[in-house]
Amino acid sequence: MNPLLKLDDVSMHFPNKDKAAKNTTIKALSNVSLSLYPGEIMAVVGESGCGKTTLGKIIAGLHQPTGGTYYYKDEDVSKLAGKKKKQYRTNIQLVQQDSYAALNPAKTILQSLAAPIVRHKVARGKRAIRAKIIELLETVGLRPAEQFLPKFPHQLSGGQRQRILMARAISLDPEVIVADEPVSMVDVSLRLSILNLMTTLNKKLGIAFVYITHDLATARFIAQNGRLAVMYLGRIVELSSVGKILENPQHPYLQALLTAVPIPDPKIAKAKNELPLKGLEVPSLVNPPGGCSFHPRCPYATEYCSEELPLLREVEHGEVACHYAERIPKWHLTASSN
Ligand SMILES: Nc1ncnc2c1ncn2[C@@H]1O[C@H](COP(=O)(O)OP(=O)(O)OP(=O)(O)O)[C@@H](O)[C@H]1O
Ligand SMILES: [Mg+2]
Repeated sequence: MNPLLKLDDVSMHFPNKDKAAKNTTIKALSNVSLSLYPGEIMAVVGESGCGKTTLGKIIAGLHQPTGGTYYYKDEDVSKLAGKKKKQYRTNIQLVQQDSYAALNPAKTILQSLAAPIVRHKVARGKRAIRAKIIELLETVGLRPAEQFLPKFPHQLSGGQRQRILMARAISLDPEVIVADEPVSMVDVSLRLSILNLMTTLNKKLGIAFVYITHDLATARFIAQNGRLAVMYLGRIVELSSVGKILENPQHPYLQALLTAVPIPDPKIAKAKNELPLKGLEVPSLVNPPGGCSFHPRCPYATEYCSEELPLLREVEHGEVACHYAERIPKWHLTASSN
């Protein structure tokens, strides 16, 4: 199967606005290569500031990468024009974290949802447009749908607004939805239902999802049968199917993440040993450390790690960017037996 999207050595280095650091760049994303296949779910996880949103915006076409090439169906996105560009734009939809900011506060739900439908001629005529919107609202679980049409964004809960954004995204029948922290501003009690909605949209409509989060537990939940990309300081450090990656984490950073957060998995919960990091401070993206950018925090780092950048390479359980992945101790093997 051909990938829908392919990032080949993609980087995004922003000019640094800090006057004290003139002529430097913020290396939000460095040398990222990854493919997304039709209908798959890929979760992207990493700490705040590691470049997740930047990656999402590149995929959705909101940033033009400063390095590397981004392909949509084997065509260089930066060279798309006319009909093909329009197709790419409608086929990749971005759902952002802040549902309040993403909706025009002065427009009703009917007006907000009608705009893209009219613009892209999904339906014509008032009645057909209204019927389409009702169908969309029902698909995203907002029932009775008619009740929502005259409402303004402030009259809805965070969870309901997030569903409206999903409805708007699916109205153009996209191939991919990039969901950037879609539940981080939603009440904890409603998060699961939004995650379930995305899984349903994936299964029923065959939409591929790129689910961006700092939360390993929700990543694991939504991408049960999908893949997980772990990011650190603008790079992907591990990439594999969720099952394999969580049962067999290779990168010390992922091992640290897994032992630091509670994961609802009896096997993993048994692990008692938190991986002790050398430092808690995340290094700067303006001056990232030489060699492996994780080496100042890594308990297993050697001098070689501070000199040589480890590239993402295939190992038994996926892909990992660590020189010593096969040799470092695996914390889960030392899980306690209580
Ligand atoms: N337009 C921009 N101009 C300059 N710097 C930017 C721009 N967008 C992002 N950055 C910087 O790039 C880095 C990565 O930002 P990004 O928003 O991609 O991280 P993130 O992983 O999404 O973080 P969070 O979890 O907090 O949302 C940050 O240091 C950020 O300040
Ligand atoms: Mg972000």
